Amino acid sequence: MNRQIQIQQAVDYIHSKIHFTPDLAIILGSGLGGLADKINAPIYIPYGDVPHFPVSTAPGHAGRFVAGTLSGKKVLAMQGRFHYYEGYDMSTIALPIQVLKALGCKALVLTNAAGGINLDFSVGDFMLINDHINLMGNNPLRGCNDETIGPRFFDMSHVYNINYQQIARECAKKLDIDLKEGVYLGFMGPSYETPAEIKAFRLFGADAVGMSTVPEVIAADHCGLPVLAMSLITNMAAGIKEETLSGDDVVQTAQQKGEVFEQLMISIVNAMPF
Ligand code: HPA
Repeated sequence: MNRQIQIQQAVDYIHSKIHFTPDLAIILGSGLGGLADKINAPIYIPYGDVPHFPVSTAPGHAGRFVAGTLSGKKVLAMQGRFHYYEGYDMSTIALPIQVLKALGCKALVLTNAAGGINLDFSVGDFMLINDHINLMGNNPLRGCNDETIGPRFFDMSHVYNINYQQIARECAKKLDIDLKEGVYLGFMGPSYETPAEIKAFRLFGADAVGMSTVPEVIAADHCGLPVLAMSLITNMAAGIKEETLSGDDVVQTAQQKGEVFEQLMISIVNAMPF
């Protein structure tokens, strides 16, 4: 089925549940879904009810939209996302982003859990993403291009919106949060990286590594949705520390830092210019 029709059917369904145009879309990463509980007058829409949406299977991902107000802004949060490692096509990962744009969202805030590669980082740090490296081996826009969504070839020099980055810095400063900044490298997963891969990624210029965000950001840039993205460093990447990596660390660190993360996000949402 034509992508425009898929988007329209998903938009029509969501519109039948929420009777406002969201200003801001927020994607909540692994273990970071607690922010959705701060949304006022929440309306829940499970992904499985939305036409053409798959169901999110990753741990720590509720798998639903939560619509309402946050910090006075009309928001539509995705409590859980779709990952390439779950077996979805890259184009399936792009669909929710194109739907958010078609719903009228003016900006997209993405969050994720990531492994720290930069040796100046510590577990529990927040990293403002200022650029990315796509090593996922695929691109969500591979295949036919729908010119009504975005152009075939497009510039990715300024994907992470400069003004929103400045807002995030100022909010972090006000809250006395030591906000790190850097380059996020997307790797397919679900296996964690090897120490040799992490050494190589450091040479490439990556500061953190994770299994999400990059395809969503590419899709957002394509359809003209400005992006702010933030990682929580839930563990130091493979080979940096002695410990064995596991998905439990991700959920645990996200739980420990959940409250600070929520404060930072609420402050950022409040400061967004709409
Ligand atoms: N590697 C990849 N993805 C991750 C990691 C990691 O170390 N931590 C959290 N997500």
